[in-house]
Amino acid sequence: MAHRILVLNGPNLNMLGTREPQTYGAQTLADVEKLTVEHGASLGLEVTCKQSNHEGELVTLIQQALGSAEAIIINPGAYSHTSVAIHDALRAVALPVVEVHLSNIHAREAFRHHSYVSPVALGVICGLGSTGYKLALSALAEKL
Ligand code: DQA
Repeated sequence: MAHRILVLNGPNLNMLGTREPQTYGAQTLADVEKLTVEHGASLGLEVTCKQSNHEGELVTLIQQALGSAEAIIINPGAYSHTSVAIHDALRAVALPVVEVHLSNIHAREAFRHHSYVSPVALGVICGLGSTGYKLALSALAEKL
């Protein structure tokens, strides 16, 4: 049976394509989700993509992954830098997590340099645009 992967995108990522394209690229979230699902399928993975602007909803989606997914790829957006709740939810479900950022958060403002998600992630990919989601899937395909 195909391994199931949940891909979660956090706040403002629904605005990809129009939001600061010099930083986040010209692809829409639908474009990114399509290439992610297709790359997953090429690796024999079943990928489900979800996006929310709400911290509590992201926590619920992480909790619901227990039993419905074997790993999580998450771009928590700005919640990376603020959310103990998302950190705790990821720790609670104890699934392998890959944290992805489109931009290189370490080359940007100091407030983006710390992520509450990184300590509970298997790995972190940043600065490679949508390729980051594909790399995360490839890493999980080897790991699972
Ligand atoms: C982001 C980086 C975050 O600092 C920012 O708040 C985002 C997007 C990225 O993908 O580069 O919303 O996670």
